[in-house]
Amino acid sequence: MRSRILVVDDAEVNREVLRNMLEDEYEIETAENGEEAVRWLWEYQKETAALLLDLQMPKMDGFAVIEEIRKNGWLKKIPVLVISGEKAVDVENQCFQMGISDFIHKPFEASIVKNRVKNAVELFTYKNQLEQEVERQTEALEEQSRIIRRQAEQLKEEESFHTLMMQYRCAIMEVETKLKVLNEDFSRKYKRNPFESIKSRLKTSESIYEKLRRKGYAVTLENIEDKLADVAGIRVICSFPDDIYRLAKLLLRQDDIILLKEKDYIKCPKSNGYRSLHLIISIPIFLSNEKKDMKVEVQFRTIAMDFWASLEHKLKYKRSVDNAEEIVEQLKVCADSIEVLDYQMQDIRNKIDGSSG
Ligand code: GTP
Ligand code: MG
Repeated sequence: MRSRILVVDDAEVNREVLRNMLEDEYEIETAENGEEAVRWLWEYQKETAALLLDLQMPKMDGFAVIEEIRKNGWLKKIPVLVISGEKAVDVENQCFQMGISDFIHKPFEASIVKNRVKNAVELFTYKNQLEQEVERQTEALEEQSRIIRRQAEQLKEEESFHTLMMQYRCAIMEVETKLKVLNEDFSRKYKRNPFESIKSRLKTSESIYEKLRRKGYAVTLENIEDKLADVAGIRVICSFPDDIYRLAKLLLRQDDIILLKEKDYIKCPKSNGYRSLHLIISIPIFLSNEKKDMKVEVQFRTIAMDFWASLEHKLKYKRSVDNAEEIVEQLKVCADSIEVLDYQMQDIRNKIDGSSG
């Protein structure tokens, strides 16, 4: 179907000249004044591809028409091209400020009129299609998140979900115990602790379903176990970088632990400056009637790296921060200084440990 264009002008000659120029490409409708134009638009605004509008007209002038179109929200959907006599800068700027798309100047020059109308129509068609597409996608996403929220609610009511969470808690206890045993043994041998503290957390059900949704998976017990590696999380805070590697090695050497994945953000820091050693391990837990392998995410970092990561985390989860870019840069500088400092401290420790007396 050809696009419809409404030509609004009180002078019949203008309406007819424009009709002749454009009727090969478009369905041309005409109105003699603003009132007629607005009446037409109330009925057919959805099918109108462009409006060619005279400013001086009886009953309701062009400005009033633009105002009415704007008020009804149609100006975002329909391009308005104002028909004007000689160029008057002030009037034209006023029209642009009101949101019109372009001008068609008298005397009409067929090729220019055609090109201006074509540009405006194409641009708006493209824009409207994009907006519709975004709307469709937003609706689809909203529907998807409604489904997932329902699934998550159902999941929370299921006994098996609570059983799984209990198993993750047990896995955390197992890893914690292993780390504490190493701490005991190490501190007896070397008179110092290989880590300062450990923090554990079980992912909340909200966070579980949010992450599954983000990754495009349905919220099911199978997907929680297969697709998520950080339901059980342990953070080990060490004093020095070499403690991190020593401790990680001692942990991984244990024959019931399997390393599933390692991400060494200390050797290869993230571009924001983030440094930590991440291990995804599998560890068995022994239940009354089964042995089950569970995934646990263990993050190792120094005290200084942890201090940095907490602050950086705050920035990431804050919706709007003034001077965010500058803060990102400052954080990167801090992260690099922390690295230098961590190794300097380690050197000093080595010197102290190595000195006799
Ligand atoms: P997530 O989906 O966030 O778990 O990331 P991922 O699966 O790609 O794994 P990755 O090992 O990169 O990150 C795991 C966890 O490390 C995150 O959930 C955070 O706790 C932490 N982390 C990773 N990158 C950063 C970072 O840039 N800043 C901070 N503060 N923490 C980070
Ligand atoms: Mg995570």
